[in-house]
Amino acid sequence: MRKLTLLFAAIGYVAVSFAQSNVASKDWGTGEYAGVWKLSVGKPEKINLLSELDITPKREALQEMPDGALPISPADVKIELRDGKTYISFPLEKEEKIFGLGLNFKTVEQRGRIMRLHMDHYTGSDNGRTHAPVPFFISSRGYGVLINSARYIDLWVGTAVRKGPDAPEEQDRNTDRTWPAQPYSDNIEVLVPAEGVEMVFFAGPTMLDVVRRYNLYNGGGALPPRWGLGFWHRTPTLFTDKDVKAEVDEFEKRGFPLSVIGLEPGWHSKAYPCTYEWDKSRFPDASGFVKDMLDENIRLNLWMNPYVSKHSEVYDKIKPYTGSHTVWLGEVPDYSMPEACKIMTDHFRKHQLDLGVSGYKMDENDGYDSWLWPDVATFPSGIPAEQLRNLYGSLMQQATVKMYREKNLRTYGQVRAGNAGTNAYPYVLYNDYYDHRGFITALINSSFIGVLWTPEVRSSKTSEEWLRRMQTVCFSPIAQLNAWADGTKPWTFTDVEDDIREIALLRIQLIPYLYTAFADYAFYGTPPVRAMNLEEGYAAEAQTVEGRLDATDNPYAMAIRREVKDQFMVGENILVAPLFAGEKERKVVLPQGKWFDFYTGKFAGEGEVITVAPGRHIPVYVKDGGIIPLWPAMSKFEDRKYPLEVRHYGNKPATYSLYDDDGSSYNFEKGEYTRIDLTVTVDKKGRKKGKAILLKGKQVWSFSEYNFKFMTE
Ligand code: GAL
Repeated sequence: MRKLTLLFAAIGYVAVSFAQSNVASKDWGTGEYAGVWKLSVGKPEKINLLSELDITPKREALQEMPDGALPISPADVKIELRDGKTYISFPLEKEEKIFGLGLNFKTVEQRGRIMRLHMDHYTGSDNGRTHAPVPFFISSRGYGVLINSARYIDLWVGTAVRKGPDAPEEQDRNTDRTWPAQPYSDNIEVLVPAEGVEMVFFAGPTMLDVVRRYNLYNGGGALPPRWGLGFWHRTPTLFTDKDVKAEVDEFEKRGFPLSVIGLEPGWHSKAYPCTYEWDKSRFPDASGFVKDMLDENIRLNLWMNPYVSKHSEVYDKIKPYTGSHTVWLGEVPDYSMPEACKIMTDHFRKHQLDLGVSGYKMDENDGYDSWLWPDVATFPSGIPAEQLRNLYGSLMQQATVKMYREKNLRTYGQVRAGNAGTNAYPYVLYNDYYDHRGFITALINSSFIGVLWTPEVRSSKTSEEWLRRMQTVCFSPIAQLNAWADGTKPWTFTDVEDDIREIALLRIQLIPYLYTAFADYAFYGTPPVRAMNLEEGYAAEAQTVEGRLDATDNPYAMAIRREVKDQFMVGENILVAPLFAGEKERKVVLPQGKWFDFYTGKFAGEGEVITVAPGRHIPVYVKDGGIIPLWPAMSKFEDRKYPLEVRHYGNKPATYSLYDDDGSSYNFEKGEYTRIDLTVTVDKKGRKKGKAILLKGKQVWSFSEYNFKFMTE
């Protein structure tokens, strides 16, 4: 490790130390990995967002990435320590865009926003309070920074104007119609309420490279078990074993796919706070029930919150490892302590894992000020309440994943809180916000910050809304209907029952493709569902429309920004452009290169904005040369081989690296996996030929044959 001391003009001396290896840019010295630099200023706190997580960076994959330099030099980052706090200022260029900074539901580009990153329920405004307030930003100049502090961090992203020669010219509002309420700001100001902080800088060159480096640095993405990519249904609260079985039978009878049943409050003997023990009146034979479900190839996922009831047999044991305050009068385990994790997971193991339960939905670990522990609370580990709040969801993810890992089993679950460093944990965020457009914007934003998100379906006012929501959720990390409150079923709106069956079956068909996308997340850090902004050749600019002067709503006639936040990429080749209730048509921005309609294979457009009226379908497009492997349409699937339909779109020759493994264990980490090259060649006369190339001696788990289908004439 090299220690450098930098002089920042007009600020004084600030101790800055770099820990790196490979030379990528001479200003930044050397780094441990190509394109990754750590920079500490002042006295960073012992606890940060990564310190409590057991993360092994994906060293080889990082080293295989292209060398990258940072487009800024250390002198461009102004750092000041005063009042026991750290003030950081990053430079911003005129056209520069900023992405990331938490799971936002309304905006994708973050320039012009002021936020305090704070773990919380999302309540309708992108102000930093959200389920994944990740202090990581990505600049369109091709670099990213993780501000690795578990404190509530304040950011002014291109809103503050420092005095100096570069400040914009003053304008007169009396006479100048272009007078802006937010004049051009050339910086991101950051306030970390601590006497120092560690930052990690990630190089591009592309924004996708930045994201990939960030994910690989944090251990790579999660690879869910294959069953996790099927269809999930959460039954209503207080359902009994018999109710659940009847529901499962109904799915079967109607030919609806079903892989996971989620149980909501009611399976515990007590909830809010929880016992984590089965309720004997509703589930008299829990073990037999779980077994019956597994026999039908249905996995069980159990709802819980972190707060421990007095009536739980674990209560006395966990009590010494809980905080000073209760939540819903339940004890709050200090999941940063190995002792607490062991006590809780021993309990979970005994009552769930050993019975065959596949995972959890960990609710309410994001907190909500009105009922969570206050920031004055204390915890036996000594970690301040503020930091523990920002870390709590990450720690619960870590503890439960470890428990499954010890059995060499992959889990896949849901969680209400995540933060930096959780991308390797197989958990998907969700919430109660339920705005369809906001859900899709969150899906896009999740890809910048190393988390997964599901726009789950709960209820709808009309069958049209029902269909549109079902269609989008089927192109997300968890395709789930959460009927906990409304008791809805996929067939609740009979006029769209067939359309919904079709999209749910398509979800199952897409599993080989989705599973490969997740493998690319795990091995290369590429998010399986991604913002268009991470796609090469995507050029949509946010439109700034003049704001109208309004004495109450808009007294400063602030301009209104319209950005594209309703279409996204899934895997390597698919672009999804959801429709929302009330829309008959929509605009789709197609990146450079030719794009083809997923259903017909017909040419759709090329680097342009098209308007489509897709009828009942959800608009989906495939890249030129895009290969999509599909399983047969089936409502249940097992761990066995199925014939594969290999679709090829457009006219380009192509190779797709299909991933396969046993679908449920961690053996893939020891090399027990297979990549099958699906290759399409095109001869001079335009005739296409497909071939599946498998290395000799390699095992195949889930494909029996490869039938190529050329979708474009
Ligand atoms: C909410 C959660 C819902 C459901 C409910 C059960 O907090 O977001 O999905 O689980 O609790 O009471």
